[in-house]
Amino acid sequence: MKLTLRIWRQKDAKSKGAFVTYTAEADEEMSFLEMLDVVNEGLIQRGEEPIAFDHDCREGICGTCGFVINGRAHGPRERTTVCQLHMRSFQDGDTLTLEPWRADAFPVLKDLVVDRGAFDRIIAAGGFIASAIGGAPDANAIPIRKENADLSMDAAACIGCGACVAACPNAAAMLFVSAKMGHLAMLPQGQPERMDRARAMVAQMDAEGFGTCTNHGECEAACPKAIRMEFIGRMNADYVKASLTGGRRAAGSEGGSG
Ligand code: FES
Repeated sequence: MKLTLRIWRQKDAKSKGAFVTYTAEADEEMSFLEMLDVVNEGLIQRGEEPIAFDHDCREGICGTCGFVINGRAHGPRERTTVCQLHMRSFQDGDTLTLEPWRADAFPVLKDLVVDRGAFDRIIAAGGFIASAIGGAPDANAIPIRKENADLSMDAAACIGCGACVAACPNAAAMLFVSAKMGHLAMLPQGQPERMDRARAMVAQMDAEGFGTCTNHGECEAACPKAIRMEFIGRMNADYVKASLTGGRRAAGSEGGSG
């Protein structure tokens, strides 16, 4: 298949970017990133700068890849990262516009690559457990309700790709932050620091310049891991509780209830 690609080219964080048009040939079995690899081989052979884009696992696991294709974060397929997207999702003759995540908190570093360090700083603010818990306990040594275990696993599926921010008209990061808080808030091990975590991560999210959720739902639609907006509600409840009580532990949360 033959494609026309309009790709955002930007030399570095300080330079002004612009769309540049390329033609590409691809097999429908190729992944989207393999198609870009071929385009880049051609650019290198012509002595031109290859297109910069992030990737690592190419298996939908690491969250490193991500850009916007024709206005949609990660492209047209639901629950699919751009590294797992295949050219059979497109038609011969299509024109595809590729641009980086657009958000003040994700400055463009080069071409399709943005700086997602803001996510790392939010995690560093509280997205972890600091308790000394010794060696790994036997499975099932700590009983956890199935409902909570399932919710925790659902939230833990977040790969931190940033599609939620790119899709949100407010560039809000609340789906990401709520997932990273949520998977810990459902488990007993996450309780001792639960309120401190809520305050610290929300404060860091605000300090990074992300917007606020106004219930558009674009984040949930764009998320390749189907993280649900219900986690935002759970995060807000924890944050309000933490702000009102100043306590370190959510009332009635000893068993890891949501
Ligand atoms: S490269 Fe790892 S999720 Fe896409």
